[in-house]
Amino acid sequence: MLLSLLLCAGIVSGFRPNPESRGNPNDFTDADITELGALRAVAWYMERNPLPGRSALAPGELENMKPLNATGLFKAYYKADVSPSRFIKALQEIITGNNLVESSRGNNDYYFYCEQIGKSINQIRIQADSMLSSLKGEVNSSGLGTARLSAGRALHVVQKFYSNTNWVEMQKNGSYEYLLNPSSPVIPTAPASKKTCADCTRIGSNLFQCEDNILVNDMLTSGYKVSASCRLKPTGKCGHGGKYDVAQHTPPTGGINKETSNRDFSPHYRLHQKAAELAIEATKSFFVGDGFGLLSKVGDDTFKKFFNLDGYSLTFAVDTTGSMSDDINQVKIKCIELLRSYSGSPDKPFNYILVPFNDPDVGPVIKTQSVDELESAISRLTATGGGDCPEMSMSGLKLALQQSMPRSKIFVFTDAGAKDEHLKGEVEILIDSTKSTVNYLLTGYCSSRKRRSAPEVRPKTFANSYEELAVYSGGFYVLTTKHQLSQVLGIMEKSLNAAPVKLIDGQMYTSQFSIPVDETLKELTISVKASTSFSMTVFQPSGSQLGSLSMLINTEKQKVVKISPIPEPGSWTVNLAPINSYMILVEGKSLLDFHYQILQKEDDYVLPVQGRPVQGLNYTVSMKMMGDAAGMQIQRLVPLSEDGTPLESIPLNQSFDALGNPFAFGPVSLHGPRTLLKVEGLSPGNFPFVRISGDSLTTEFVQILPLPEQNSTMAPGGTLKVSVLVVNHGAARTFAFKVWDDRSFMSSYEPKGSFLNTGENITLTATFIAPVANESFASSVVTFTASSGSAQNYLKLPISVIPETALETDEIPPVYKLREFYMPCRGNLQSEPVCRGHTWQMSFTAVDDQSAVTVTINTNPSGLTCTPKGGDVKNVICEYRSTCCNPFAEVLISDEDGNTSSFTMDYRNSKPPASY
Ligand SMILES: *[C@@H]1O[C@H](CO)[C@@H](O)[C@H](O)[C@H]1NC(C)=O
Ligand SMILES: *[C@@H]1O[C@H](CO)[C@@H](O)[C@H](O)[C@H]1NC(C)=O
Ligand SMILES: *[C@@H]1O[C@H](CO)[C@@H](O)[C@H](O)[C@H]1NC(C)=O
Ligand SMILES: *[C@@H]1O[C@H](CO)[C@@H](O)[C@H](O)[C@H]1NC(C)=O
Ligand SMILES: *[C@@H]1O[C@H](CO)[C@@H](O)[C@H](O)[C@H]1NC(C)=O
Ligand SMILES: *[C@@H]1O[C@H](CO)[C@@H](O)[C@H](O)[C@H]1NC(C)=O
Ligand SMILES: *[C@@H]1O[C@H](CO)[C@@H](O)[C@H](O)[C@H]1NC(C)=O
Repeated sequence: MLLSLLLCAGIVSGFRPNPESRGNPNDFTDADITELGALRAVAWYMERNPLPGRSALAPGELENMKPLNATGLFKAYYKADVSPSRFIKALQEIITGNNLVESSRGNNDYYFYCEQIGKSINQIRIQADSMLSSLKGEVNSSGLGTARLSAGRALHVVQKFYSNTNWVEMQKNGSYEYLLNPSSPVIPTAPASKKTCADCTRIGSNLFQCEDNILVNDMLTSGYKVSASCRLKPTGKCGHGGKYDVAQHTPPTGGINKETSNRDFSPHYRLHQKAAELAIEATKSFFVGDGFGLLSKVGDDTFKKFFNLDGYSLTFAVDTTGSMSDDINQVKIKCIELLRSYSGSPDKPFNYILVPFNDPDVGPVIKTQSVDELESAISRLTATGGGDCPEMSMSGLKLALQQSMPRSKIFVFTDAGAKDEHLKGEVEILIDSTKSTVNYLLTGYCSSRKRRSAPEVRPKTFANSYEELAVYSGGFYVLTTKHQLSQVLGIMEKSLNAAPVKLIDGQMYTSQFSIPVDETLKELTISVKASTSFSMTVFQPSGSQLGSLSMLINTEKQKVVKISPIPEPGSWTVNLAPINSYMILVEGKSLLDFHYQILQKEDDYVLPVQGRPVQGLNYTVSMKMMGDAAGMQIQRLVPLSEDGTPLESIPLNQSFDALGNPFAFGPVSLHGPRTLLKVEGLSPGNFPFVRISGDSLTTEFVQILPLPEQNSTMAPGGTLKVSVLVVNHGAARTFAFKVWDDRSFMSSYEPKGSFLNTGENITLTATFIAPVANESFASSVVTFTASSGSAQNYLKLPISVIPETALETDEIPPVYKLREFYMPCRGNLQSEPVCRGHTWQMSFTAVDDQSAVTVTINTNPSGLTCTPKGGDVKNVICEYRSTCCNPFAEVLISDEDGNTSSFTMDYRNSKPPASY
C-alpha cells in the first residue's frame, strides 16, 4: 500500500505537500520548506531577543546551527531541556493550512501557472491581509489558529513561485521581495507576444531533456498547465512539464518546473534544490522580513504567540461555591509553596491563571507571571452561594481552555458535578485544538437528582464526565476527601516539567511491571492507583532496591513516586502487593519524543485528516521524532486500547525528511473508540525506548466531509453558504447537528439533525453574513458538529471576508503610441564605420490606467529618456535615439503590477505601430 502510495503520486502541482507524499527522498516538500523557513525566522528572532538576564547571541549563532531543528534550537536558546512541542504544534497548523490548499485544488491563483503572476501575487496579499486581520487587538487562541491557516495558504503561493516560474533560471540568488513587499521593485512579466520557451529534446516516450529552453532572462514567465481557467498553452510559451502535463508534447515541448529532483516529473529537476533554498529564504522573510514581515507588522508579543514561543500556563479553575472554602485554603498553602520552589527553574510555567466559577457566574480571569500575585488572588477568592448541587464547571473549564496558552496544564477543583454538561462536546474540541491537559482534583461529586438518564453510550464506564475529560486530554482524575486533599496536591509537581513524556499508561492485573528507561530521561514519575490499599517497591536495573522514595502522593490507594535524577538507565522494575488490578501511569522528562499526524489519501497525495478519524477506515500515520535523535531508531508503532492493551504491532522503517529529521510512516486502521499511540525503538545510547502520545486519539462512526469546489469568501455585507456532507459509517441512529464560527458570522443552518441509516449521508448547509465594516478583512473558522449521545465528530473550515477591491487584479498592460519615427538606416548605412555617423530616432507615449509606467530598451539603453507628462507617472513621453550601428530596438513597457507590453522598431518599419 505504501509503495503504491508513493508510486502513484500523480498530479504534480508544485513542490509536493509533505514527505509522506513525496517521490524522491531528499526532495524538499512544502512541509519541509515551511518548517525550515519558520525555524530560521524563529532562530533569527531568538538571536535578537535573548532571555532576560542572558547575554546577547551572535548573529547566525542559532540560525546557522547544523542541523537546525526545533529541539536543538530550544535547547541552545534556553540552555536547558525545554521541549519545542508547543512551537511544533503552531508549525503543524501552518503546514496544515499550506497542505490543505492541495485538498481544494483547482484554483490556479495558488500556483503561479499560465503567466498569471499578478493574480498569484494578489492571492498572497489577500491571505497575508487575512492573517493580519486575525491578529489585530487582543488575540486569542481561535484568532491565532485562523491566522496560522492563512499564513500557511499565503506561503503555499509564495513557495510555488520558486518551483513554477523562471526566477531561479534568471540566476537570481535571493528571493523575490516584491511577492511580500509591494513597495519593493517589480520585475515585469513577459508580454503575451513574447516567446518564452523553445522546444526541449525528446529523449523517451514521455521524457524530455530541457536545458536552456527558457528564452527570457529579464522578465518573469511561468509554465502553462492546462485547466478550466487556462485552456491551452499558447505558441511560444513555456509548459509546466513532467509526465502528467498533458501538453508536454505540444510545442514548445517539455517545461520548466523544479518541484522535484526527478526528471520524469520536473524538466528542470537539477534546479530543485536551488528553488527550494530560495523558497525557504522567502518563507523566513514572510515572518521576519525587515519592514514587511509578520514580526514588523504585529510586534514581538503577537509574533511570540503566533509561534507559541512562550511556555505553558498553569491554570486553576476553582469552584467558589460555599462548600469549597477549606479546599481553597489548602490549595493556596500547598500549591503556592510548590510553585515558589520552582520559580527559578526552566520548568516553571510562563504564567499562572485563575478562573473562579460559581453559579451562575464564571470569572473574572486573573493572569499573572508572579507566584505572589497568584497567592493574593487565591486569598481574595470567597466561597459563597451555590445552594443546589451541580455547578457551572464546564463553563469554567471552557474559559480556562480559551485563556490558557496551548499545551497548558489545567487543574479543576470542585466537589460537585457539572450543571452545564451540554458543553462537554465543545470542551473536547477545544482540548483537541489546544492540546492542553485537564486534571481533576475532586473532593466530592454530587449531581442533580432530577438528572434524566440520558441514553449515553459511554465507550468506557468512566465514573463521570470529569474522568472522561481527564482521560481524553491525557490528564489525571483524583477523587479524594476534603480531609485528604492536601495529601494529593503534591501531584501538581508532576506538571512542572518543560519536557514531559509518557512511557506507560494503562490498567494491568499484576504484581509487577517493568519500565524501559533510556538514557535521555532526566526524571521519572510512577503513579499507581488501585481500589484497595497496596504497597510498592522500585528496583533499579542493577537489581538494587531504590531506598527512600520521594513520594508526591502517598495514600493507601494511590502512590506517586518521583525519581530525579535517574541513577541508571535500563529496565526498571516495580513490585506491587498484593496482586490486583492497577491503573499505572509512568511519565518522565526527556527531549526524545515524537509527534504524529493522521493522514488520508486524497487523489495522489496523503493530506492531514480533518476532524476525528473514522473507525475502520484506512489511514496513514506519520511520526516525527524530536530530540537529540542522532543514532536513534524507530522500530514499531503499537496502538494501545484505552486501558493500555497493545492492539497490534506495526513495523516501521525509519526514513528522513529533507531536513534530516528521522520520521516513519505506515498504514493504520483504528478500531477502538480511543487509541493511544506508542512508539518503540532504540535510543541514541542503544537502550530500548518507548513513548506514548500525550492525548488519546478518538475515532467516530460519523464523518463530516467538506464538499468540493465551494467558495469560502464573501464581500463585506455579503452572504456565503457552506455545505458539508455528514456520513454515517456506523449503526443507524439520530444525529444532532450544530454549527458555529469564531466571529459569529453565522446566521442559520439546516437541518438541525437527522436520522441516518448505515452508509447514508446528508448535506448540512450553513449561511453566513459578513458585517459591513470599515475594517474590511476578517477571517473566522466554522465548526460543524454531528453528535449522537457522547459520540461526536466535527470539521473546521476557514471562511473570510475580503473586500471586493482586494480581489481586483490589474491585468491590463500599459498602452503606447508612436509619435515620431525617423529611420534613415538602410543598406550600407548600417555597416561599420559609416553607421556611427548616422542616427535614427523615435518618440512615443506610454500610458497605464493604474500605476506608474517603466520603459526599457535592450540595445543602447542610454539613448532613452522618458519624462512624465505634467508630472503624471502613469503617462510618460519617451525619446529614443541611436546610431545606425543598432538599427533596431525592442521596447518594453511595464506597470507596477508587472504587466508588460512591447514593440520592436527597426529599419524595415515604415509605419509606426500603436497599441491604441
Ligand atoms: C537537532 O539538532 C541538534 C543540534 O544541531 C543535533 O544534535 C540533533 O541530533 C538534531 N536532532 C535531529 C532529530 O536531527
Ligand atoms: C548567482 O550565483 C551563481 C552561482 O553561484 C552565479 O554564477 C551568479 O552570477 C549569481 N547571480 C547573481 C545575480 O548574483
Ligand atoms: C483497508 O486496507 C485493508 C488492507 O489493505 C483492506 O483489506 C481493506 O479493505 C481496507 N479497508 C477500507 C475500508 O478501505
Ligand atoms: C522495511 O525495510 C525492509 C528492508 O529494506 C523491508 O524488507 C520491509 O518490507 C520494510 N518494511 C516496511 C513496513 O516498509
Ligand atoms: C463562488 O462565487 C462566485 C462569485 O461570487 C460565483 O460566481 C460562483 O457561482 C460561486 N460558486 C459556488 C460554487 O457557489
Ligand atoms: C476571539 O477574538 C475574536 C476577534 O477579536 C472574537 O470575535 C472572539 O469572540 C474571541 N473568542 C474568544 C473565545 O474569546
Ligand atoms: C452520499 O449518498 C449518495 C446517495 O444517497 C451516494 O451516491 C454518495 O456516494 C454518498 N456519498 C458519500 C461520500 O458517502
